[in-house]
Amino acid sequence: MLSKHATYNKRMRLQKFIAECGVASRRKAEELISAGRVKVNGATIREMGSVVDPMKDSVTVNGERLTSPSASEKIYIMLHKPKGYITSAKDQFGRPDVAALVADIPHRLNPVGRLDFDTSGLLLMTNDGDLTYKLTHPKYEVEKVYIARVKGTADEEAIGKLRTGIEIDGKVTAPAKAFIIKQQPGSTSIKITIHEGRNRQVRKMLEALGLPVITLKRIATGTLYLGDLESGKWRHLSKTEVRTLQKMYT
Ligand code: URA
Repeated sequence: MLSKHATYNKRMRLQKFIAECGVASRRKAEELISAGRVKVNGATIREMGSVVDPMKDSVTVNGERLTSPSASEKIYIMLHKPKGYITSAKDQFGRPDVAALVADIPHRLNPVGRLDFDTSGLLLMTNDGDLTYKLTHPKYEVEKVYIARVKGTADEEAIGKLRTGIEIDGKVTAPAKAFIIKQQPGSTSIKITIHEGRNRQVRKMLEALGLPVITLKRIATGTLYLGDLESGKWRHLSKTEVRTLQKMYT
């Protein structure tokens, strides 16, 4: 996906990278390259056409490693994950993963928690390990809000069970917030808020009540709301959104 928010290209000419790191002008960088004083991943480079990936390649000038000014920058992305993408990086079945949807960002971003292959909705991606820790550690009890459309008719008894806790995989879930938002012929839409992050938790809770999930979408995580972000698109979090998250979970 090409996003209007994209500001970087992953790969760039070696002399441009050296100049961006503030070591020398682009012209001077060319002289350094010709003089054999520049190495990329340990190999001396003398050709002017060389291209590097600032996030992956190790570039040294006179033996000193250069750091891209943007490498240490903290990036926070809200992605509207479509169904049909996996959240983890490696998949034995070769299914597409969410990294492909944020490929125009040069930073190595990690998803905060996971959404199933078939689940859509809000997925936060960042290179901020501290925030990832806080948003995923059980002690912070970060709320995640989902809209589930299930097969069948959910009654108040079923909703009550979601609210008190349901045994899945031998352990009772923490009380959830749950409301019926729409009753259609043959299906029910339920808004459910949980703060645990067990594997396929919402699906399993609903299945345990005889309500198999047709679609599942996450609409909020902590203080973040998906809003009208289109499926497959991403946006940077605002400074206020980042600050609010950091303050909430300290
Ligand atoms: N619960 C699920 O069952 N699936 C998800 O993707 C997230 C929460």
